[in-house]
Amino acid sequence: KLEAVIFDLDGVITDTAEHHYLAWKAIGDELNLPFTREFNENLKGVSRLESLRLLLSLSPVELKYTDEELHALAERKNELYKELIASIKPSDVLPGILPLLEDLKARGIKTAIASASKNAFAVIGNLQMEQYFDIIVDAAKIKNSKPDPEVFLSAAQQLGVKPQSCVGVEDAVAGVDAILAANMTAIAIGNKDHFPHAHHTYSSTEELNAQELIEIHQRTAA
Ligand code: BG6
Ligand code: MG
Repeated sequence: KLEAVIFDLDGVITDTAEHHYLAWKAIGDELNLPFTREFNENLKGVSRLESLRLLLSLSPVELKYTDEELHALAERKNELYKELIASIKPSDVLPGILPLLEDLKARGIKTAIASASKNAFAVIGNLQMEQYFDIIVDAAKIKNSKPDPEVFLSAAQQLGVKPQSCVGVEDAVAGVDAILAANMTAIAIGNKDHFPHAHHTYSSTEELNAQELIEIHQRTAA
């Protein structure tokens, strides 16, 4: 039985995947790296420092940075990102999300956020959505980043439900892998070709609905 739906934040609840992309793009341009939207798919769901490592791997020559320099670059990306998210407002929640959350609540299905971001509480605060989630797990509370299942398992544990009773919703390849590793039903949002392993892919959050999630979970739960 479906007992909880655990949502990724960036790119699922609101379009902060775009803000992350724009901030990394600015850093990539400064360093003259051939950073594209296509390559950015690899950064989605991935921690800040690991994202930087992937970005720097685009250099044709080996870049030698000290740990201090790496942290300074990551920090600068984060400053750019924080400027971009400062203007997020309640109307920036993606289509279909609020009706879904309300429908889930009406059906007694719990909800949580499982985010790899250290800015998760700032984003949810700007959206004024704290009250919609039973539990919020962010990067500050976990050791292992997606695709490790830790953030999803931690959310399920805090909700008091078994992983097999959960559906996870993600826009990132690393995130879908984390959901599958957690033994949950994996719903992807985006281009179907990016998510061959997801149990179901929707092209937009607008298509999400509680009844269908219940049915997909029933068909696919371990
Ligand atoms: C994830 C995003 O939610 O959080 C990634 O999908 C991002 O793009 C990661 O790198 C870490 O976020 P932050 O805000 O801690 O740099
Ligand atoms: Mg995401």
